[in-house]
Amino acid sequence: MDVAFVSTNEGKFREVASLLAPFGVRVRWSPRTLPELQADRLATVARAKLAAVPASSRRVLVEDSGLFLEAFPGFPGVYSAPVYALLGFGPILRLLRGRTRAAAFRTVAALRWDGTVRLFYGEVRGRIALGPRGAHGFGYDPIFLPEGAARTFAEMGPAEKDAISHRGQAIRRAGAWMRRRAGPRARAVARRSDREQM
Ligand code: IMP
Repeated sequence: MDVAFVSTNEGKFREVASLLAPFGVRVRWSPRTLPELQADRLATVARAKLAAVPASSRRVLVEDSGLFLEAFPGFPGVYSAPVYALLGFGPILRLLRGRTRAAAFRTVAALRWDGTVRLFYGEVRGRIALGPRGAHGFGYDPIFLPEGAARTFAEMGPAEKDAISHRGQAIRRAGAWMRRRAGPRARAVARRSDREQM
């Protein structure tokens, strides 16, 4: 089974494609720009992105994610993308001097599947590093240390990040839903195509 993932962010696409492969879901990347509603909740933004994709696309996945700093509730949150694009992470590191470095990444994935709309959530807690480290991933990965880890997301390989990340949790939930929804016949086809790829 196939789903279109609509996002201009190639880093997200790579993660989503490899997260959904084990569920027998093939992801087609649609790198088009969707209007980003100004709203204070990821779920509202994710729903609005999905609504902006023409109804002729019957199986579509979008997501909205953000970094949330405990010291500054809601920031950068839904504004994570423009804050990063305009300022990078320098200002965040400066703002956190002398304050709690606790932070979380959150994702809301919105799926349209043959007329049904479902939302899936993921969160990973952690803290902001004293400075950027690592070369993998994208966005704020070099400054985010997931709880219990001594390395930033950017110091981990993709599989290690996917296993614990906010996007990993939300997208695996979406994958499990799609597999259940597809029924036994589609599951058998997915298993067969997995075997053929081995
Ligand atoms: P949006 O979901 O397109 O609004 O963008 C979310 C922004 O949050 C991205 O552009 C990144 O700057 C940041 N972000 C979201 N998820 C991640 C992640 O997994 N790693 C690093 N930065 C992320």
